[in-house]
Amino acid sequence: MDRRGGQEHRRALLERATGVVVEVGSGAGTNFTHYPAGVTRVLAFEPDPYLRSLSAEAAASAPVAVEVGGGVAEALPVPDSSADTVVASLVLCSVTDVRLALRESRRVLRPGATLLFYEHVRSTRPLLGLVEDAVTPLWRRMAGNCHPNRDTLAAIGAAGFEVTDVRSFGFAPGGWPPLRHILGAARAPLA
Ligand SMILES: C[S@@+](CC[C@H](N)C(=O)[O-])C[C@H]1O[C@@H](n2cnc3c(N)ncnc32)[C@H](O)[C@@H]1O
Repeated sequence: MDRRGGQEHRRALLERATGVVVEVGSGAGTNFTHYPAGVTRVLAFEPDPYLRSLSAEAAASAPVAVEVGGGVAEALPVPDSSADTVVASLVLCSVTDVRLALRESRRVLRPGATLLFYEHVRSTRPLLGLVEDAVTPLWRRMAGNCHPNRDTLAAIGAAGFEVTDVRSFGFAPGGWPPLRHILGAARAPLA
């Protein structure tokens, strides 16, 4: 997927990251190489031990300081209002509880700070959306709880974030079929 354009998406997502960053579900640490110089520290959390070890390897050669730990997006071992940026990249499709994960992101962000998101979401085409609904029960069992049919943008708004910009586009990580992706930023409330 990264060869098909995913790396470009990651670059576009992360060029706006600043200060203390919390990355949820960092996987193999594919994002780390894209953090810009304005980032002082990345706290990356990955629940899967194998992927966490890959994240730790990637952290060793990252251009900024990255600390990798265990933890789920729904319960981050991070103090309140301590992060300048939270990064959710292809992860809100897989978390157990999206609402709780976004509430945690909001808790750890300073007031007015930024959630950066890059996610595949349910199609806005009615028929394709129904197909995604139909395949979700099987797909999530085969693919680490990944739900092809989540309306993550609505969930971000419902969690109290103000979406400041979002790009929506079709992208086929595996070559086919194209899935609707969203890439953008949302601001945590000021109070
Ligand atoms: C498709 S991978 C994406 C990895 C990485 N964020 C990236 O952009 O390449 C989905 C990741 O979400 C992680 N994950 C699943 N459930 C999670 C949860 N509740 N909290 C945090 N991460 C979770 C998985 O372990 C996996 O690393």
